Amino acid sequence: MREIVIAGNWKMNTTPFEGAMLARKVAELLSAGNGATVVTVVVCPPATHLAMAQAGIASVTTESGVKVELGAQNAHWEHKGAFTGEISASMLKFIGCRWVIIGHSERRQWFGETDETANKRLLRVIRNGLRPIFCIGETLEEREADRAFEVIERQLKIGLDGVENIGRGGLVIAYEPVWAIGTGHTATPEQAQEAHQFIRSQLSEQFSEEAAAATVIQYGGSMTPDNAGQLMACPDVDGGLVGGASLKADSFSAIVKAAAEAKGRG
Ligand code: 13P
Repeated sequence: MREIVIAGNWKMNTTPFEGAMLARKVAELLSAGNGATVVTVVVCPPATHLAMAQAGIASVTTESGVKVELGAQNAHWEHKGAFTGEISASMLKFIGCRWVIIGHSERRQWFGETDETANKRLLRVIRNGLRPIFCIGETLEEREADRAFEVIERQLKIGLDGVENIGRGGLVIAYEPVWAIGTGHTATPEQAQEAHQFIRSQLSEQFSEEAAAATVIQYGGSMTPDNAGQLMACPDVDGGLVGGASLKADSFSAIVKAAAEAKGRG
């Protein structure tokens, strides 16, 4: 039975105070028995809010035993040095992060991130004992040109180069078709399943069948409480990387609940 991982990518949203409140509210709603005992739940606030969000989560966690884990939205490949504006994986670990999003399409689109730089960041995150959520996915242009699988294959080959182990408790892959992000055009369950199945077959070739079978593959792109159940019912969809709907504690916890139910573990 594969782990289920639902992560909220807050992107560049909320004030630090709102972030702390949101993290706390998520933890509170989940502690009321909304699937959190069977789903690994992660929130990824902006870097400036991590410490406050951690405090918000911790204040609930200690009482109820429900665990909401903390993630960052990026990390540099060096441990320290002259890299203005960057944050290292060890710094993130120090303040309580267990997760880091790597290679998000917005980093690729707006900040010059490439398969190669994403790979370097990924390797550092793994070396520092944090769990990466490694993002891949094709643009609309690439899908329309029938190149989606070719793009995914390249992103996995270069992006995961040098990674020694995948599988249970480690790296998570997020399939986020760029055309579905923030657009309301969610992939259909058929489109998601087809891509996830392809990703798993690639992982099987690059690593082993056993490792591929144990690896969590999340779907991301306009996931909401309304469509999460159908997407999560796909056999190769093991979680979600949620943007907009993670900014409201109600909708985010509803997605966690829907995920648990869709996998028959609610
Ligand atoms: P939306 O859920 O807002 O489409 O964002 C998805 C995403 O990019 C998560 O990383």
